[in-house]
Amino acid sequence: MSASDAKFIIEGKEYLFPTLEGSEGEKAIDTRKLRAETGYITYDEGYGNTGSCSSDISFIDGEQGILRHRGYSIEDLAEKSNYIEVAHLLIYGELPTKDQLQQFAERILLGALLPERMRHLFDGFPAASHPMALLSALINSLGCYYPHLSSNNRDEELENFDEAAALLISKVRTIAAMIYRMKHRLPMIYPRRDMGYIQNFLHMLFSEPYYEHFAHDDVCKALNLMLLLHADHEQNCSTSTVRMVASGGANLFASISAGISALWGPLHGGANMAVIDMLKTIHASGDDGSKFVEDAKSGKAKLMGFGHRVYKNYDPRAKIIKEASNKMLDSLGIQDDPLLDIARHLEEQALNDDYFVERKLYPNVDFYSGIILQALNIPTDMFTVMFAMGRISGWIANWKEVAEKEKGRIYRPRQVYTGPQLREFVAIDKR
Ligand code: CMC
Repeated sequence: MSASDAKFIIEGKEYLFPTLEGSEGEKAIDTRKLRAETGYITYDEGYGNTGSCSSDISFIDGEQGILRHRGYSIEDLAEKSNYIEVAHLLIYGELPTKDQLQQFAERILLGALLPERMRHLFDGFPAASHPMALLSALINSLGCYYPHLSSNNRDEELENFDEAAALLISKVRTIAAMIYRMKHRLPMIYPRRDMGYIQNFLHMLFSEPYYEHFAHDDVCKALNLMLLLHADHEQNCSTSTVRMVASGGANLFASISAGISALWGPLHGGANMAVIDMLKTIHASGDDGSKFVEDAKSGKAKLMGFGHRVYKNYDPRAKIIKEASNKMLDSLGIQDDPLLDIARHLEEQALNDDYFVERKLYPNVDFYSGIILQALNIPTDMFTVMFAMGRISGWIANWKEVAEKEKGRIYRPRQVYTGPQLREFVAIDKR
């Protein structure tokens, strides 16, 4: 027995289980042999107390409002680097040197075009399709055009990983822009060789055959920050989904497509869209937000963009994006927007209300990212797609970690069955 072992007493019998400590001092009981030794499993619906894996990528201390990627604080990364550098850090474990960055950026730049035949896929979808449904379907389809990157042969996929990673980061942006163009029945715009990652995205979104759109530097900066702040976030719903799918041996495209579907929900990535829908509903009802806050307290409504499973102090990403959104709104001269007024009122009320204070409910990153995207004229139905564009680098990093793990096991949780016990089968004419 070691001094740090955990002792379980089950039905009067004692069992010892080893404990683990992460590099930032987080503690865990290693229960991998629990069922074999005791016949019991742990019950933790929602996984609030379950470590599903060990990971070197991101660290969160929700009590202190800390987020770090590979040891670097999100504050430093937001101030001193850009989205592409952070993507490299997440995927390869280190901030790139100048040469590495140039090589990585070049791969991304050259990967921007979609296979020409893929354009026809867009024609088959109705214009009313949700962009997240399209994104998930198209990312999975993309793998079909690159069989050597999506064979479900791990050795082959790891050998070609650099190509697949850059290709996905690049093409997710082209696909996102094409989804918008298709939905709004606009002609497709091709990427350009002389534009950076974000500039090129805005060009594909807003240019016309007779007009070249060059986004303002401040707009590119704000979007860069938004993608950077969404790049990774430990074992959230979509990242866990990516790891789950990857653990069965599925390729990067299939795993990320599943992650996109998981992100779609309004409790996760869909929250940024839901924030704007909520603000519009409040505005249309003539409320200044006060009634909505009361409804949220009585369980009749949910304050979208508030609360977080892990952060019980403040979402550090929200702090950064709030400051940036204030500066951006000033520089764009947007001050009297009625939705913005409601958002500010909601925030002020909730931060001073016992219900929200006692439950440690603070605005999360999606409260402000919705406001930023709205001010940048990004269409509301594209908000969650923008989240996916940022998060794809974290998903790729997590897929790689699973794929490279020696003796990695398929993720396969247990359950506590609560349905009927064995029953006698009754033939259909006797039921
Ligand atoms: N508005 C009103 N009450 C809330 C809210 C909210 N947004 N969030 C939580 N609560 C209440 C909840 O009703 C419960 O109250 P009580 O103790 O009286 O039953 C208490 O706070 C604890 O909530 P919980 O449901 O146990 O919290 P959770 O950890 O399961 O859920 C959450 C976290 C983010 C899903 C939830 O806070 C929520 O639905 N927020 C709104 C959606 C949102 O903004 N999601 C984006 C999250 S950040 C981006 C991302 O990571 O995807």
